[in-house]
Amino acid sequence: MSFLYPLIFVSVLILILGVISLLILRFLTPELWRLRWSKVTIYLGVILGLVSAAVWAIGFYVNALWLFRISALTLASSILFLLAVIISLPLSALFKLIINLIFKIKDLRFSTGEKRKTNNERRRIIRAASLFFPSLALSTAAGGMIRSYRGAELPEIRMKFPHLPEHLENLKIMQFSDIHLGYFVDLDDLSSTVEDAMKLKPDLVLVTGDVADRLEMLPDALRIIAEMNPLLGVYACMGNHEYYRGEKEVRQAFEKAPIEMMINSSKSLKMQNGTFTLAGVDDPIFMRNVSPEFYTDALEETMSEAPADEFKILMCHRPDGFDFSAEMGIELTLSGHTHGGQIGFNGRSIFENWVYYPYLWGIYRKSNGSNLYTTAGLGHWLPFRLGCPPEVPLIILERN
Ligand SMILES: [Fe+2]
Repeated sequence: MSFLYPLIFVSVLILILGVISLLILRFLTPELWRLRWSKVTIYLGVILGLVSAAVWAIGFYVNALWLFRISALTLASSILFLLAVIISLPLSALFKLIINLIFKIKDLRFSTGEKRKTNNERRRIIRAASLFFPSLALSTAAGGMIRSYRGAELPEIRMKFPHLPEHLENLKIMQFSDIHLGYFVDLDDLSSTVEDAMKLKPDLVLVTGDVADRLEMLPDALRIIAEMNPLLGVYACMGNHEYYRGEKEVRQAFEKAPIEMMINSSKSLKMQNGTFTLAGVDDPIFMRNVSPEFYTDALEETMSEAPADEFKILMCHRPDGFDFSAEMGIELTLSGHTHGGQIGFNGRSIFENWVYYPYLWGIYRKSNGSNLYTTAGLGHWLPFRLGCPPEVPLIILERN
């Protein structure tokens, strides 16, 4: 009954979002509350969410992928709809407050007849504004959903290092991360992304965790990625979802695939007339309260056999590890996990500096020259991407 807890969690979440939406509608925008359709729309959003959650559980129980995927989509639509209502109605209320204030100041200068005229005008503006913000939020939600299904970008990320060895200049690394196969991304999506990625001719392909939420897709996913067959090979590290879905099954799938899973281990790879160290560190599994000792100990084990004078590239599913890897002098860390918060602006997550979580999306650099790239990943938690598209970055190493 592994679907029971997610079912209860999602149902309670939808009910809470529904109640909050109705309370906001009732007390912040009474002019909309009086319109019957506004309440009915919220009720329908809640019903759609609850029915979708139940169908999702049935899909899980009878192992019907199509049912699973359709219900996941309608469930996500319901959650995004309720969130759009919750975000937009307070904006409508705030706008109403400002309009009322402006008209109150204007009224001081008008006669009774003129006041009646401005009152009508005010009511018209308030009604239009009340509808404007929810409409904007709903179309943004729809646009974000459509973007999440429109395939990945393959951005070229040029990373600069002051002491990059000559044999690594222009080394091209393709990073796959957070594919989350199953709910919103399937094997066909992965195949077409891999096809585009192959045209960029990477020297090395790295998979930085959270590959499949439906484990039966993992062997095919690994086969598809391995078909890229880059010069230096394909390597991977563990993500938290590898542990959530079944460590044993994941390890078995990797053992059968031509992709080496690196768990607290490193190896020297040859590039032209030189070598460099590639390493993969384990994931702390749980979402919160990751002790600082975890990364200190894990990285010490990971790098125990790495030659001190080699340029080092580390796969670390969570960007939290960067503080520790930089302290150890590891030149390049590649991470994922955050999905960039799925909402971004100008190449950074809009949640940057707002949340406790560090290094959400993009290039980060320490004063000692260590670099991190956190990718926004290929898959999603909810199918919604705004200013932060799904991506498979091509990391290109350059000298400063
Ligand atoms: Fe993750």
